[in-house]
Amino acid sequence: MGALDGQTVVFTGAGAGIGRAVVRRYVAEGARVVAVDLSEQVLELTDELGDAVRPLVADVSTWAGNTAAVATALDAWGRLDVFVGNAGITDAARPLEDIPGEQLTGAFGELFGVNVLAPLLGARACLDALIESRGSIIITGSFASTNAAGGGVLYTASKHAVHGVIRQLAYELAPDVRVNGVAPGVAPTRLRGTTALGQTAADSVLDGTREALPLQEIPSVDAYSGLFTMLASRTDGQAMTGVLVTADSGLSVRGIARPGGRV
Ligand SMILES: NC(=O)c1ccc[n+]([C@@H]2O[C@H](COP(=O)([O-])OP(=O)(O)OC[C@H]3O[C@@H](n4cnc5c(N)ncnc54)[C@H](O)[C@@H]3O)[C@@H](O)[C@H]2O)c1
Repeated sequence: MGALDGQTVVFTGAGAGIGRAVVRRYVAEGARVVAVDLSEQVLELTDELGDAVRPLVADVSTWAGNTAAVATALDAWGRLDVFVGNAGITDAARPLEDIPGEQLTGAFGELFGVNVLAPLLGARACLDALIESRGSIIITGSFASTNAAGGGVLYTASKHAVHGVIRQLAYELAPDVRVNGVAPGVAPTRLRGTTALGQTAADSVLDGTREALPLQEIPSVDAYSGLFTMLASRTDGQAMTGVLVTADSGLSVRGIARPGGRV
């Protein structure tokens, strides 16, 4: 028996990286998933996972993209138990002084549009169905949700905002819908950059990152799947709401002289 048997999920940013790994795990745990991504890469999931997945190419920073995702789940399975807002983009750690003033408004709108507005639109679009099923919402935060220097000022501000969204929605939706988040430290992915800053995609793991981590290993994209599963589970996650679960390889307890006491 799987931890998510019988549950149906709308999952954004499912085409690559952490999201793709979690969707594989959700299906292995018995869930059926509408896998949403801007990239057509998400269509490959049908070959791999069959009928348990309905891929949808859509822009989740739009209301229409989110309503299409909910409609796909309800048409296919008649219910919705979990919304995971995971799609994200980066600013490639661009400092404020390196962002020309005339590009700032566009860059802010684009980055906050994906990292903050999209999970809000998704939560709003899923709301009636989640209240009916007494389901849950999970949003992907970051080390940058509670710390500086996990990105540039736009990314850090957006991921701090995600923390606020989780806490406020957990309050607003209790007792009917649980709302939590997962805050990864690093994973070997290539996050899309902010077009308004002329960025394409950037490696999430920079030179020297492994040595800086107290745990001294770059976690694989699979390292976070168990946490997303626990939060979605109606048994293991039943007492959790308003929580951002941190999995940062020890970054927030890093030492000054050495990253870890036994390094
Ligand atoms: N990789 C890391 O080190 C790391 C660390 C902390 C947090 N995160 C967060 O994890 C989440 C997943 O990122 P990842 O590292 O797996 O990167 P990724 O680029 O592999 O995955 C993100 C996916 O989101 C999709 N996406 C972007 N904008 C979209 C939009 N408007 N509509 C629909 N889909 C869109 C992309 O196409 C991509 O497939 C993000 O929220 C990111 O901020 C990543």
